[in-house]
Amino acid sequence: MSRRPAIRPERLAARLARFAEIGATPRGGVNRQALTEGDRQARALLADLALARGFALRQDDAANLFLRREGGDPALPPLLLGSHLDTQPTGGRFDGALGVLAGFEVLEALEDAGARTGRAVELVSWTNEEGCRFAPGAMGSQAFAQGQIAPEWREARAPDGARLDDELALTLAVLPGVLLAPLGSPIAAYLELHIEQGPILEREDVPVGVVTGIQGTIWLEVTLTGQAAHAGTTPLDFRRDPLAAATRLLAALHGEVMPSDPQARFTVGRIEASPGSVNAVPESVTFTVDLRHPDAARLAALEQRVREAAMREAERARCTASFRPLAHMPPLAFPEAMLEVIETGAGRAGLPTLRLISGAFHDALHVARCAPTAMIFCPCRDGISHNEAEDVEPRFVAAGATALLEASLAFLERAEMGTSIETRGAAMRAG
Ligand code: GLV
Ligand code: MN
Ligand code: MN
Repeated sequence: MSRRPAIRPERLAARLARFAEIGATPRGGVNRQALTEGDRQARALLADLALARGFALRQDDAANLFLRREGGDPALPPLLLGSHLDTQPTGGRFDGALGVLAGFEVLEALEDAGARTGRAVELVSWTNEEGCRFAPGAMGSQAFAQGQIAPEWREARAPDGARLDDELALTLAVLPGVLLAPLGSPIAAYLELHIEQGPILEREDVPVGVVTGIQGTIWLEVTLTGQAAHAGTTPLDFRRDPLAAATRLLAALHGEVMPSDPQARFTVGRIEASPGSVNAVPESVTFTVDLRHPDAARLAALEQRVREAAMREAERARCTASFRPLAHMPPLAFPEAMLEVIETGAGRAGLPTLRLISGAFHDALHVARCAPTAMIFCPCRDGISHNEAEDVEPRFVAAGATALLEASLAFLERAEMGTSIETRGAAMRAG
């Protein structure tokens, strides 16, 4: 290498600000949900930036977009960096975009320095990490890891009625000249920088989180069905009211699940009554359930508890309960050797580190099935995320990108010395 590559924090900050304009909301956040027009604009901008730096582009059937800075031996599997550009409906400027744009900054830093790496370094922007428009989340990376798009995903409908397959086709068509490559090409390793989305690093004033693993997630859609009836004329004992049942059910679950297990997370983020008329007892109520736990057995037990409670409450109200699984992501531990790669890189840059587990799921969860994988966390203000107020101090953005660059260099050195890191992510033990 001719000179040591270095991050340019002001360039990265300007990029983050530029991407935050795409889908900007009046309250300072971003609404750039997966496979919408905004998402397509963000991809097109990333592709333009790549071409301007001479990086090669390709996309796959899931519209994952790859940028490649070639290495000495094109036949060697690349080191892959990445994250996502889609957001929550009231999302922040950093969730996902930080990892993609810091990854781009790493590629640019290598390019600026004229660095010659033994293998290519690639950046990927994964499709539909958030999962709020089309479930499941982390869809693009899961398709990459399993080598196919699950047929039922193609038919998935967004709350706005759009069909996933149609939105994918429109998205792929935005970059018509970009090579369409098969899903799941071999990679040497994967590194992802992301904001912590929780309060630990900020509280400890540590700039670099070394993520030990990701807790498990289950998403369910629950529907309680009763009988539509007149609001004014129907006495209590004639009602089969699914909303009354849902209210009792959710009050009971909120009162039990998290209070009885500090590691459990239970969230109902979407609820809809049909037909949604002010003066009719609803016929049905549908809501989503998001369950998280670091222990797979306890996560499964939580799901069982939700299902049983729903059936019980439905029966009490002479309603029925039905369930549609939307996502199941078992907990995962990242390989120790990859945690050490990050610690080595951060250490070289003089950046203190702290090990912690991720409460959020990430694309890295799926990629870990294909290759040695690890994640770096960056502190965020007040631990706030999935909120337009999400913010990261500039010094932490710079530190996170530097840690990503240095971890990449540390991995490349190891790989060039022939020290292979074979370990894949492993099922997480109770924790
Ligand atoms: C990711 O967005 C998550 O919900 O954990
Ligand atoms: Mn994210
Ligand atoms: Mn998110």
